[in-house]
Amino acid sequence: MPKKQSSSNSKANSSSPNNESFNRLIISELIKNPDQYFSGSTLAKTLKTSRVTIWNHLSSLKKDGFAFEAIKNKGYRLLKSPLTLHPTLLSAHLLNLDVKESLFFFNELDSTQNEAERLLSHHQLTPFAVVAKKQTQGRGRRGRTWVSAFHNNLYISFAFEPNLSPHTLQTFSLWIGLNICHLLNSLFNIPIKIKWPNDLVLQGKKVAGFLAEARIDADHTRDLILGIGLNINGSTTTFPKDLQPKATTLETFTGKPLDMNLITAHLIQTTLQAYRDFMHSKTSHFKSLWTEYDHLKDQPITVYRNEEKIHGAAKGVDPNGNLILQLPNGTFKHFNTAEVTLSQPT
Ligand code: BTN
Repeated sequence: MPKKQSSSNSKANSSSPNNESFNRLIISELIKNPDQYFSGSTLAKTLKTSRVTIWNHLSSLKKDGFAFEAIKNKGYRLLKSPLTLHPTLLSAHLLNLDVKESLFFFNELDSTQNEAERLLSHHQLTPFAVVAKKQTQGRGRRGRTWVSAFHNNLYISFAFEPNLSPHTLQTFSLWIGLNICHLLNSLFNIPIKIKWPNDLVLQGKKVAGFLAEARIDADHTRDLILGIGLNINGSTTTFPKDLQPKATTLETFTGKPLDMNLITAHLIQTTLQAYRDFMHSKTSHFKSLWTEYDHLKDQPITVYRNEEKIHGAAKGVDPNGNLILQLPNGTFKHFNTAEVTLSQPT
């Protein structure tokens, strides 16, 4: 099993477990109000320690790209934090967002999907999430490779034991995609759309993909691993040549790098909340969200299924998450699996 670097609700760094959770608490206080000074004595009292110990802990984080200011009679302030994924910072954000589920954080994995599967086979309590800064065997839908270089992108898998009928899994995966799309639009103001069967698209280019892998027993889902790859920072010039015209990153739109820890923490919170809502049938706004974010809405599209190429207009999805295509003769066809392209650029 690859070495785990940290997990959000368990002892973190194997050499110094207390340091890790201590740093998490300090950082969680400092990021709540980054512009304000946090009183050293309050912090010391809250954490039942001395101010010197706090400063020593803060100093130990400098090598990771954190910078702090300490002013006498005022307190501490966070001046800078790493934008790339950092286990302590990510788990501090999760603490502030009240996310209690386990997060397993790795510098490198074969695939977060594989690791989630290994954890399930060791009876890890679900739901949980696995994050890696780099994957050596990242995979996409239809047996494709998911390019997973170090640093700028998010590779995450969620494991669930949803006790759902297998025919609802397509809708479930779309529901999670829709909620993440809404999060990026509403909280980060990035105009992302969803493209059936489950890509997130920014300015017409793919920015994220979802991979759902389930184990089914008869008519019941034993477990489901939902993997998400989201291109956050950097430019697409680092992508393989064939991907460059089709893919994009959030930074390409915002013009400046984003805080991957903040985005990832919100994505985890949103996904777990969307999972709970789905399990409690609180999905009445599925249709309105789909209408709002549907990249293909009413567009002329081509559907590729097996050797077939079918033209028509996209008309949303049915309650089972199937794509509805209106054929030129006015009739409708529903697709469960297929690849889709816009017939002409919009
Ligand atoms: C696709 O659009 O083809 C789906 C891409 C899914 C990629 C993610 S990255 C995290 C998780 N681990 C993997 O190996 N794949 C998924």
